[in-house]
Order: sequence, then C-alpha cells, then structure tokens
Amino acid sequence: MSLFEKCYRFTKAREVIASGYYPYFQPIEASFDTEVLIRGEKKVMVGSNNYLGLTHHPKVIEAAERALHKYGSGCTGSRFLNGTLDMHEQLEERLARFMRQEAALVFSTGYQSNLGVLATLVGRDEHIFSDKLNHASIVDGARLSFGIVHRYPHNDLRALERELARTPADAGKLIVTDGIFSMEGTIADLPGIMKLAEFYGAEVLIDDAHSFGVLGEFGGGTAQHFHLEDRTSLTMATFSKSLGSIGGVIAGPEDVIHYLKHHARSLIFSASMPPSSVASVLAALDVIEQEPERREQLWYNTRRMQEGLKSLGYDIGGSETPIIPVLIGEFDRMLVFWKEIFDAGVFTNPVTPPAVPENSCRLRVSMMATHNDDHIDFVLDAFAAVGKRMAAI
Ligand SMILES: Cc1ncc(COP(=O)(O)O)c(C=O)c1O
Repeated sequence: MSLFEKCYRFTKAREVIASGYYPYFQPIEASFDTEVLIRGEKKVMVGSNNYLGLTHHPKVIEAAERALHKYGSGCTGSRFLNGTLDMHEQLEERLARFMRQEAALVFSTGYQSNLGVLATLVGRDEHIFSDKLNHASIVDGARLSFGIVHRYPHNDLRALERELARTPADAGKLIVTDGIFSMEGTIADLPGIMKLAEFYGAEVLIDDAHSFGVLGEFGGGTAQHFHLEDRTSLTMATFSKSLGSIGGVIAGPEDVIHYLKHHARSLIFSASMPPSSVASVLAALDVIEQEPERREQLWYNTRRMQEGLKSLGYDIGGSETPIIPVLIGEFDRMLVFWKEIFDAGVFTNPVTPPAVPENSCRLRVSMMATHNDDHIDFVLDAFAAVGKRMAAI
C-alpha cells in the first residue's frame, strides 16, 4: 500500500464539511476579547482559554509593541544559542517567584514544556504515573521518554496506589497530573496525590495550564489552591491561556531546572519565544498581581453559567471551574447542536474522541473574567432555545 493511501482513504472530515456541520478551523476575522467576528457575523466567545481576558488588555498590548520595536519580530534561534534575551531571563526569575519555586525555565509552547520535562527526566527503568485524562502533551512526553508508563483512571487514587505499590521501591517515579482537567473542568486531588507521593518516594509534576491565574489565593495555581506550595516538586504552566500569549514554563528545584536547560531537546532544538510574547507575559503577570478583581469576576461568571446551564437541565458533569462541559452524547448529535448554537451567535468548542470517550461528546464552554451579564444571558438564551429544538428532534 502506498504511503499516502491512508490520506486518500480519510473521508470522514470531507463528509462532515459537505454536510455543512463542520465545526473546526473556523477563521476569526477580528477579535474583541469576548466577541469575535466570523464570516462577518459577531459571536460571543465562550470557547477561549483567555480566562482573565488579558489578550486585549492595553498594558499587555503596549508591552508587546514596545518589545517588537526593541528586539524585532523573532529571536531566530534556540535559547541555547542566539535565542536568549534578557527578557527571557527576567521572565524566568519572575515566574519562579510567582510559582514559589527555586527556578523556572521558559519554553516556546506548553506542549514543548511537557515533552521536554517528561522525555528528559524519566529514563529507562523509571516510572511515570499519569491520570488517563491528562493532556495529550503529557501522553506524548511519556511516550518519548524511555520510562515505564502507568495510566490510572481519572482521579482514582486507589488505582494509583496499586500501581505505585507494585513498583520497585528504589526506582525513580514521577506522578503527573493536570491541575484542572481540560475536558472535564475538574480539579486534581492534589492532597491525596501528595500523600501517596511522599509515602512511595515519587516526585509530582502538576500541569497548571488551566489553573495558572485561575486557582489559588493569588492565582498561583493548584498547589496554592490546596496550600501545598512547599511540597510539590515540579509545576508546569502555559502562557496560552490566562496569560493571553504563547509559551510554557517549568518551575522546580534549581538543580532540576539547570539539568533540563542543558538536556531538554524541545528547548534546545527549537527557536525561543518571540520578544513580543515574552513582553506580553511579563505585562500579564503585572496585571494578575495588580487586578485580583479579575479572578473574582471570573469565578462569579463561572458560577452564573454553571447554575444557568444546570437550571436549563444540562448535564455539566463534575465541573468545578471555568471549564464547563455541556454533555451532548453521540458525535452526530453534537455536530448539529454545535451548529445550532453557533448560528445563534455563540462560539463553543466541540469536544470529540479521542479527547473524550465515545458517546461522551460535549460542547465546552469556557468562561472569561471580561464576560458581562449580557453575554451570559445571551449564551443561556441560546442554550435554552436550541435545547428545546433539539429535544424535539
Ligand atoms: C492541560 C494542558 N497542558 C498543556 C497544553 C499545551 O499548551 P500550549 O497550548 O501552550 O502548547 C494544553 C493546551 O491545550 C493543556 O490544556
């Protein structure tokens, strides 16, 4: 069979495009933070990870513009060689302080951060224990490592303990978990995980992609939320969500960060974060510190949307965060639901296998601090009207 045969045989997406229900790769023509323009029509955006609404904050945009003029459009090289700016180092120092860790290392994306950390730290005869609902970058990082991978059912600490107990006591072990799970909106049982880690001598890596800026008294993430900041070993976060940019970070003990800096292939063999992005993340950190009311508003909006959807009869699973899955069920039904909601002026994210189990398709609603009551009412009205129509189908 020719190499491209699989491509010629892949017809599913074309069939959905032809049906007019294709939800992916929607081109946004302009963005106004909580609203976007698509094919000339405004949509209320509840499909973004821009939790604090910082992508359009004047201080963030101004900082990016200044950096663009000072350093140019890109670094054109790896951090290792010509791609380190003084600003990258400032950002690392700042993040280490913010995340209450000894040191931090900045990668060009969150995906590359997870790849780099897992593939570099876990070697042959060492073990990774990974929640089954962890993000794809963790799954891929674990695959790239030469370690033995144990996947435990979502937040099932009894299963995790069984796997830990079966592993040689002196073998290197890393438990890795999302802080907030991206498809469920649930929070990891970090206190339980820490207890097991301490008993079985494992290190813990938390992926705070969705928790940074969202959880914890100062937006410090999952460990701060549970008051466990001095006990976790490694925390990863992305800049592509609350921080409104692109890039990723791993924070932890200085010796570990130093080792990663000199061994992580996804850092060394890829060009560094562009200047405008670094500057925007630094400015976003200022705003997070100076405007804590944004986090409060985010949680107010989250509660309003959760309650509103529940009172309309929707199943939002175990969501306890700004990520609110609206469970629809089978794939075709979800496509129709998504299109109806979209045509009603609301941008949600469709979630399908392999990100979730078969027949557990959902629309993911993600809240932002900058949504106002009118946005929330508009979205709830759309769900009410579409829900009624769909019930009749
Ligand atoms: C839990 C989690 N980890 C890592 C990533 C990767 O982050 P980035 O978009 O910065 O590559 C994501 C992004 O979707 C995520 O949701």
